[in-house]
Amino acid sequence: MSTAPGIRLENLTIGYGKTAIVSDLNIEFPGGKLSMVVGGSGSGKSTLLKHVLQLQPSIDGKIFFGEHDMDSLSRRENHCIRQRTGVLFQDGALLGSLRLKDNIALPLREHTRLKEEQIMHIVKDRLSMVELGHALELFPNELSGGMRKRAGLARALVMDPQVLLCDEPTSGLDPVMSAELDQLLLEMMRHFDMTMVVVTHDLASMRALADFVVILGEGKCIYQGTIETLEKTQDPYLRRFLDRAPEERHAPRLTMPPLDPAMLKRNCNNFLGEKETVRKGG
Ligand SMILES: Nc1ncnc2c1ncn2[C@@H]1O[C@H](COP(=O)(O)OP(=O)(O)OP(=O)(O)O)[C@@H](O)[C@H]1O
Ligand SMILES: [Mg+2]
Repeated sequence: MSTAPGIRLENLTIGYGKTAIVSDLNIEFPGGKLSMVVGGSGSGKSTLLKHVLQLQPSIDGKIFFGEHDMDSLSRRENHCIRQRTGVLFQDGALLGSLRLKDNIALPLREHTRLKEEQIMHIVKDRLSMVELGHALELFPNELSGGMRKRAGLARALVMDPQVLLCDEPTSGLDPVMSAELDQLLLEMMRHFDMTMVVVTHDLASMRALADFVVILGEGKCIYQGTIETLEKTQDPYLRRFLDRAPEERHAPRLTMPPLDPAMLKRNCNNFLGEKETVRKGG
């Protein structure tokens, strides 16, 4: 039985300043389960995460973590909840000037009084969980895209979170790496007993992972429930959304004539010949 808190949104309207992006959300992300928020670009998925993280003030309504109304917590209580909330940003959000081990150690150094030896023990543990045990000393720019995402995940997990929020964890990865990262997220959820909310536009990930699905569109929540019920929907908007993936993959491509090897050779020779002359002359 999970002890991770559910996240409940009550009549929540989110946006920037007075401009509402998504209105009147009444959603409960179940505790200890993996929920996915999907929707077209600009539908407000990242905005929702920012509000759940309290990085943006809500326009109206309430957010509860378990039984805690986030608006009525003291600063200290709020801080406690934030410390147990891991976040995985789209690009891993690693600091370029720090080695991987120091990037991962950052939250521990900032928020705990653990000794350096204990910190490094946790850092190594989390990095080996995401199969980066060999990369402690590397800088972020020495990592591949997939490695950077896994490193971001290691950092999100370093404080033993009870809630993990992920924004587009598989974007920019090829289908094989996406499937591997999906698997890793599932393993981590079970290992740490977390409530996970994952924002994605990757329908394959949604189908593979989601216990609970929320779809945003037209400024509101247009679906919430299980993937099984969603797959059976006859709603035209949802059907269009669900059935769109194959079209995207077979998007039309530019048709350019093939390169003519002879032409390439001739132009290159001209160009190189000119340079040769200049160099010899000078
Ligand atoms: N800081 C901001 N200030 C004002 N408006 C913003 C801000 N950030 C996002 N928006 C607007 O909010 C709307 C939703 O943006 P959001 O980033 O939440 O979309 P999204 O669903 O995450 O899209 P994508 O799939 O492209 O990441 C957009 O119209 C965007 O222009
Ligand atoms: Mg986004």
